[in-house]
Amino acid sequence: MKKTGLFFDFLVSHAKIYGFIFPSSEIYGGLNAVYDYGPYGVELKNNIKEFWWKSMTQLHENIVGIDSSILMHSDVWKASGHVDEFNELLIDNKDSKKRYRPDVLIKEHIEKNFFKNPKKKEEILSRLYQSLKKKDLFDIKILIDELEICDPIYKTKNWTEIRHFNMMFQIKNKRNLYLRPETAQGIFSNFQNVKQSNRMKIPFGIAQIGKSFRNEIIARKFIFRMREFEQMEMQFFILPKEEIKWYEYWKNIRFKWHLIFNLEDKKNYKLCEHDHDHLAHYASAGSDIEYHFPFGFQEIEGIHSRRDFDLKNHEFFSKKKLRIFDFKKNYIPYVIETSLGLDRLFLAIFYSSLKKEKLKNGNIRIVLKLPYYLSPIKGAIFPLVKKDGLPEIAKKIFNNVKINHKLFYDQKESIGRLYRRQDAIGTPLCFTVDYKTIDTDTVTIRDRDSMLQKRIHIKEISKIIEKETGLEKILKKLSYLI
Ligand code: GAP
Repeated sequence: MKKTGLFFDFLVSHAKIYGFIFPSSEIYGGLNAVYDYGPYGVELKNNIKEFWWKSMTQLHENIVGIDSSILMHSDVWKASGHVDEFNELLIDNKDSKKRYRPDVLIKEHIEKNFFKNPKKKEEILSRLYQSLKKKDLFDIKILIDELEICDPIYKTKNWTEIRHFNMMFQIKNKRNLYLRPETAQGIFSNFQNVKQSNRMKIPFGIAQIGKSFRNEIIARKFIFRMREFEQMEMQFFILPKEEIKWYEYWKNIRFKWHLIFNLEDKKNYKLCEHDHDHLAHYASAGSDIEYHFPFGFQEIEGIHSRRDFDLKNHEFFSKKKLRIFDFKKNYIPYVIETSLGLDRLFLAIFYSSLKKEKLKNGNIRIVLKLPYYLSPIKGAIFPLVKKDGLPEIAKKIFNNVKINHKLFYDQKESIGRLYRRQDAIGTPLCFTVDYKTIDTDTVTIRDRDSMLQKRIHIKEISKIIEKETGLEKILKKLSYLI
């Protein structure tokens, strides 16, 4: 099946039916742009996390991990610039009562109406970027009026003025607390603690996986843009004069890390350098690793040079020294950041792995061809029939092997149906106990991708699962690139 918009609808429903992703609070009608991970979703997510965590903290001896709190002192967000700078533009339609980002309204309008007139399109975009740069909200509103842009639903032009909208969620209490919009600030505020407790020497990195929250105005596209999401971030502290060297190093390593998943085609990935007008308030250089989603190339990871922006501001606000003291000099280190959206990576992996395959007999099978080391369930064990002692043997094997691997036991349906269900959730290996098992202590093993079957001894099951689905092979491959 060609991966069109319809395929994306199929993906969303597959994710729900098979227990990967559910809309949050569904029994109450759901909550816009918030999703829950189901039993297989959480396993897949944990496996992605484990791979990233080991890639960072195990393969690099100078990177350590932390797990900082989501709630932080409110001054953190003043120092980090998020209180003043973490804004989007906002416009309301008075009739539909819907909120929009004016820059997105304009871009969507010209995409739709001027696709045959690239010169005009370029002219409008250039005016928009100029006004955004100058923070000229008045001119952006004039542009909306001149282009006669209507509310996409109500088709009216009854707009409010444009204003700034801070994207942090504020908690209603006396201390002005916020839900963190990035995990990075927990790393910066623990810079001294980690450096001292673990005797870290420049260059060194601190990695963290955790939830972040942003009050996105336009939150669409399933788990691509959510209000609550997870980030896997790493801040690498360096000598200021080595900024370019390490920026290039991390761009290169992170891009290779994504390619190692071998998802469909390498052409689905792009590394794009930002020009200066499009950098976040904290960054002096930035690149995005983009993946080709059904709605076009979109960012999954950002690599930024944040120089001393954060530590310097935290020094100023906290009045604590956040620097390196060498023999003769002391300095604030520069920072290269790698910031990956876990949910976006999940979506890229899920999207590229989900296939509708036509079999030789003309049947269609739905198969989730996840990399084996990421699959939620590593192996499934079935008895061929529900009698003659086969379920007992299969259960015994299951109980022995489950100590080492995440397995699934099933005897409810015919073997063909059991295979199809495991294909749909991406289980790499299925083991079937049949009558031959009774005399030979052997079972059949079926490979998900080739669908080939062979016989192996029961004693080999655990080792084969480890070899085929463990992280060892892929981490070794990655270690040669670092
Ligand atoms: N600490 C730097 C930082 O947060 P960012 O480019 O704003 O940089 C990093 O975010 C990554 O976090 C993005 O590349 C994206 O994968 C993910 N991300 C950002 N906003 C998101 C959202 N609303 N929903 C899901 N993922 C998001």
